[in-house]
Amino acid sequence: MNNKPDLSLLLRDNALQGKSIVITGGGTGLGKSMATTFLKLGARVLITSRKEEVLQKTCEELRQATGGTIEYAVCDVRIMEQVEATLAKAEALIGPVNVWLNNAAGNFISPTERLSHRAFDTIIDIVLKGTYNSTLAAGKHWIANNRTGVFLNIVTTYSWTGSAYVVPSACAKAGVLALTRSLAVEWAKYGIRSVAIAPGPFPTAGAWSRLFPENISKKIDPLSRIPLKRFGEHEELGNLASFLISDFASYINGEVITIDGGEWLQGAGEFNNLEHIPAPMWDEIERMVRGKKSAE
Ligand code: HXC
Ligand code: NAP
Repeated sequence: MNNKPDLSLLLRDNALQGKSIVITGGGTGLGKSMATTFLKLGARVLITSRKEEVLQKTCEELRQATGGTIEYAVCDVRIMEQVEATLAKAEALIGPVNVWLNNAAGNFISPTERLSHRAFDTIIDIVLKGTYNSTLAAGKHWIANNRTGVFLNIVTTYSWTGSAYVVPSACAKAGVLALTRSLAVEWAKYGIRSVAIAPGPFPTAGAWSRLFPENISKKIDPLSRIPLKRFGEHEELGNLASFLISDFASYINGEVITIDGGEWLQGAGEFNNLEHIPAPMWDEIERMVRGKKSAE
């Protein structure tokens, strides 16, 4: 099967010049990778999370790697005052913010009956509250100052299907998707677009350690769930994100783009598991099915 991704930049040089982008949870994983792509395309970026050491290190690394302008602010997205302070800091350091990427998240697998209400709060607060805090802070600021902007929200494919064993995350991500689609309509009049990406599995230390611990991966191969039989490459997500926040996507509003190798649909189609029927068996099956018709 030839499904080799092209990992070079999708957009031309400096396609994101003039974009000032805040990325929550931008010090690690997918946030860091999207920051890398944005910087290569000429955007100015400010990354946030709770850990200053991580942010500092990522800033140094990406400045060196891309030569771009990247700053950081320590910010717990659950706390509105910190989000507002981050917006102010970003405007001072990278100029008027016109893109806000809600990427910060918390998650872990657990049977729901083992969860305390505090465990539920922990995930909902980071994912849903963190996203609406950010959205209110940046959105009100843009509206009050007559400025346009883009919200890009990272959700998951179980935002619309739900998922067992990550129920707080599923509830929170469903809320983020609802927020995306609601504001796409309500705030369009201010020139504010809201879009989302639903990634399937993209290996990161944060997600893998909490969702696919070794004893589970030994029992259930996550690749077996993906029709394209590979995980996503971070550059693929970076290219999609850079397109969605760019002016090339200025007519895309309220959309969620799935990038998962077909994973969620494989789980959804009634007969998709017939994939496991060995090819020679189809002759016998056809005979039986056709025979049934003539027996009626
Ligand atoms: C049951 C648990 C638990 C577990 C924590 N809790 N882990 N309950 N099983 N495995 C409970 C605790 O007992 C406590 O409740 C409450 O949750 C809060 O736990 P803390 O450890 O105090 O919280 P905190 O230190 O804030 O840590 C938050 C965290 C942590 C979410 C648990 O993992 C974190 O900071 N994660 C950030 C990064 C992250 O998760 N990245 C992955 C995103 S991946 P009690 O009642 O005891 O007080 C992702 C991908 C989705 O979203 C799709 C993939 C395909
Ligand atoms: P990750 O590296 O763990 O990223 C999560 C980030 O969120 C971390 O940098 C973390 O930093 C930050 N964060 C957590 N709580 C925060 C808080 N209260 N305030 C501010 N920042 C906080 O995991 P990832 O895999 O890259 O995930 C990134 C995004 O992609 C998430 O939205 C996730 O749901 C989504 N996603 C990932 C996958 C995948 O396969 N990797 C698939 C679907 C969706 P601190 O802990 O330092 O604060």
